[in-house]
Amino acid sequence: MEQEKVVIEVNHICKQYKVLKKGEGIKGALKGLVTRESRLVPAVDDLSFQIKAGEIVGFIGPNGAGKSTTIKMMSGILTPTSGEILINGMDIQKKRKEVVRNIGVIFGQRSQLNWDLRLGESYELLRHIYQIDKAQYEETLDVMDQILGIKELLDKPVRQMSLGQRVKGDLVAAMLHSPDVLFLDEPTIGLDISSKYALRKFVKEINEKRKTTIILTTHDLADIEQLCDRLIIINHGHLMEDGNLSEIVNRIAPYKTLVVEYYDEYAPEHDKCELCFHEENVAKYRFGKKEITAARLIEELSAKAQIKDVSIEEAGIDDIIRVAYGQ
Ligand SMILES: Nc1ncnc2c1ncn2[C@@H]1O[C@H](COP(=O)(O)OP(=O)(O)O)[C@@H](O)[C@H]1O
Ligand SMILES: [Mg+2]
Repeated sequence: MEQEKVVIEVNHICKQYKVLKKGEGIKGALKGLVTRESRLVPAVDDLSFQIKAGEIVGFIGPNGAGKSTTIKMMSGILTPTSGEILINGMDIQKKRKEVVRNIGVIFGQRSQLNWDLRLGESYELLRHIYQIDKAQYEETLDVMDQILGIKELLDKPVRQMSLGQRVKGDLVAAMLHSPDVLFLDEPTIGLDISSKYALRKFVKEINEKRKTTIILTTHDLADIEQLCDRLIIINHGHLMEDGNLSEIVNRIAPYKTLVVEYYDEYAPEHDKCELCFHEENVAKYRFGKKEITAARLIEELSAKAQIKDVSIEEAGIDDIIRVAYGQ
């Protein structure tokens, strides 16, 4: 079955950056220049996971967790210090040229388009670099035009494009050689709402139409909620969580929040849950799904104060982030 095929296999990869030690003041700086003292910064530490064909995986973690480093290793830009990465069964270090044909990568706010050319000319250049067949190129442009409306931009000089237009341009550029796997590192950073929607639509549709496997790094929780069934969470270069989004939520944030609006400002406490917010007439109670039911909680609270309105918030990805990132 297509779903079952493993496209990315990451086996115990580590990456240490070598950085020059800076001494104190000018003397230290000069000494550093002469002796070139360096130290190793561990960025990724024994990371392993597998990704199957057609998955959209949210790859998340706090700043400095090692996400970009991992994406650079998976896309052949950086070499792991140790460990191996297989794409479609091929070792990226040993078969770099072939592997690179199977992958596309986009780093938010860093464009691979040529600033001095029109968008269409920039694509022609890429077509020649990747030796993409003309018919395949035209077909990709047609598909991309349906998703993003790219053809109206082809005559526009890249330097005159808005950020949103340039991101569209970059998404299409990354798809011209029809990669099986697309890495997106913070693609929505700095984008306005409508460009964010365009990006999400793009991700959904290339995944459906072309079965492209997608690994997405983002700080925008809505991106994850709308696109990803699976999450990989890393911190300090280690794997923290790997699994189904709702399964992770249920496991590490197995609670709901009852929001109560009272008729006056008094909000009673309850011993089976935590009063986690109280301002004016509104109080929020966080309760474990196993501790008490919402119905029971409402009944017991309403015996102590008069309730005007209630709603229930499910734990969401922001709760996972709080727990997993240790905030
Ligand atoms: N070129 C580099 N040289 C030295 N250290 C780096 C370099 N790039 C990243 N790092 C360090 O490696 C760690 C992981 O960085 P990165 O992969 O960019 O994290 P993320 O993308 O999750 O924010 C951080 O501590 C960062 O400071
Ligand atoms: Mg990063």
